[in-house]
Amino acid sequence: MSTSTNQPERTPPERHIFNQVAPMDRSVRETAMNQRGCVLWLTGLSGSGKSTISRALEMSLVADGHVAFVLDGDEIRSGLNKDLGFSPQDRQENIRRISEIAKLFADCGVICITAFISPLKAHRKMARELIGNDRFFEVFLDADVSVCERRDPKGLYRKARAGKIPEFTGLTSGYEPPENPDICIDTASSTIEQSVWHLAHYIASKGFITLRVSDPEP
Ligand SMILES: Nc1ncnc2c1ncn2[C@@H]1O[C@H](COP(=O)(O)OP(=O)(O)O)[C@@H](O)[C@H]1O
Ligand SMILES: [Mg+2]
Repeated sequence: MSTSTNQPERTPPERHIFNQVAPMDRSVRETAMNQRGCVLWLTGLSGSGKSTISRALEMSLVADGHVAFVLDGDEIRSGLNKDLGFSPQDRQENIRRISEIAKLFADCGVICITAFISPLKAHRKMARELIGNDRFFEVFLDADVSVCERRDPKGLYRKARAGKIPEFTGLTSGYEPPENPDICIDTASSTIEQSVWHLAHYIASKGFITLRVSDPEP
């Protein structure tokens, strides 16, 4: 029972894990929801448009009658992952936890849109392997660092240039662009509406949703 320090005894968790009851078949829930769960993994530099496009896509999908949910970098870093920093180990753990959560959402039948810089190929590969190749789509928001720096929606490039943010992706820390992304969008030349249209039609073409309202390409 409790130790002299009054802390509950920590037992290795595997001793108490019994998978006696089979989980519900995913397809049963997906049939009820009239959609199939998947993960759109947005990657790109700070300011490339990950948060903007994922929120606009979420809103558009929900308005069309689907269940979609965004996992966004800043929110996760100030909540679930607030114990993590930016060391290589912590960056990996950050992506691992996000991948596990995204996987759960996909298991629930939700269209999960993730908005994280995720600069390393190895980390994105880990996410793909964990979530499953058949329902993980890497979306590269390809905007040049000069475009992102001009946008600088959070003033982070300015701070990084002033030396206030060490290891800032795109300036003092590397970004490994995807070689074979499932989708690549140049957000310097595509509007937000075009990006949303493209992503919604992509998952519809793969059979994850059936669009009720299908507007022409903007
Ligand atoms: N075509 C576009 N696509 C996405 N964002 C754009 C576009 N044009 C301008 N922006 C602006 O660029 C900024 C992108 O910031 P944000 O979405 O926070 O990027 P990230 O989440 O990738 O760091 C926003 O202020 C957005 O309004
Ligand atoms: Mg963002």
